[in-house]
Amino acid sequence: MSRVVKLAVIPGDGIGPEVVAEAVKVLDAVTAASDVTFEKTPFSLGAGRYLETGDTLTDDDLSAIAGHDAILLGAVGGVPGDPRLKDANIERGLLLKLRFELDHYVNLRPSKLYPGAAGPLAEPGDIDFVVVREGTEGPYVGNGGSIRRGTAHEVANETSVNTAYGVERVVRYAFALAERRRHKLTLVHKTNVLVHAGGMWKRIVDAVAQEFPGVDVDYLHVDAATIFLVTNPSRFDVIVTDNLFGDILTDLAGAVTGGIGLAASGNINPDGAFPSMFEPVHGSAPDIAGTQKADPTAAILSVALLLDHLGLTDESARVTRAVEDDIASRDGVRTTAQIGDAIAERVQA
Ligand code: NAI
Ligand code: MG
Repeated sequence: MSRVVKLAVIPGDGIGPEVVAEAVKVLDAVTAASDVTFEKTPFSLGAGRYLETGDTLTDDDLSAIAGHDAILLGAVGGVPGDPRLKDANIERGLLLKLRFELDHYVNLRPSKLYPGAAGPLAEPGDIDFVVVREGTEGPYVGNGGSIRRGTAHEVANETSVNTAYGVERVVRYAFALAERRRHKLTLVHKTNVLVHAGGMWKRIVDAVAQEFPGVDVDYLHVDAATIFLVTNPSRFDVIVTDNLFGDILTDLAGAVTGGIGLAASGNINPDGAFPSMFEPVHGSAPDIAGTQKADPTAAILSVALLLDHLGLTDESARVTRAVEDDIASRDGVRTTAQIGDAIAERVQA
């Protein structure tokens, strides 16, 4: 039975189009002989589009994107500090808007130290964990304001929003994931200080844990978690945490597993009411854009997450294996396209 997947493709700015070209190359290679077809629609969004038209993300863009089955995004954003982009608000107006409007309540960020990948830790052990970061609540919702701006008496509030509904659904996702992995879940928060939000997170984790007796539950304060991510990262399997802590921890996680060129992520709406979005964790890297120096591996691993999300688990595993083999045999400098070609060739082999 043939299947058509409608894929919205947002290459974006800087190295975004370069790495997306390789990700699409690998996607096409892994599905070449199968009965699933990806029907791709490109969307021009990002700093480049804003400079041309003044638009960040229109309602028409949003509804057109929402009509797809999934989204593949490269990276968006211009040169940091570019005065022409002062009002563009790419982070809030585009990336966060997509995540909030499409109800991407799971931000999934796997961290694995692949054999052959160079990480900064002398004795890393086996690093293979997934951070499940809440994506629609916390301090990132824009529930705040300021008064007396620019005066010595300025007041600025940024309220962290945590709902029982929002926490329970992401916690449930994390438990189900732990059950499919190594049966260990670590809640990371700061319950000793953030007693209201932290207390609710803790109670919900304890309640949901009753339904998953096979999963071991652990808790760490976020500051302690940063220590263990460096001194003993192999202790982690699934980490569940809020939007802000997850943002910070996943950058650290990316660093200990060999860097930004390898870190993939999914912004997931598990209910399927909206398309989920898959993207490398890195940004548009204006410093190397157009030079073919970007590592497309993170974008290619994002395709593996996309395939897995769509239930194409065999195709997903083939992409991951091809990447693993490629990383293990890396030596010398290759261009972005050469890395993409090598991985595309391996998925077909
Ligand atoms: P960045 O991730 O773009 O770059 C940080 C450093 O890592 C740079 O030196 C860059 O050359 C290097 N780098 C990044 N990706 C790489 C890759 N695939 N291969 C090799 N080297 C790589 O972060 P930065 O410089 O803070 O932001 C640049 C722009 O990207 C900004 O406009 C920022 O807002 C945007 N950005 C967008 C994101 C997204 O689209 N999700 C995420 C982070 C930043
Ligand atoms: Mg970040």
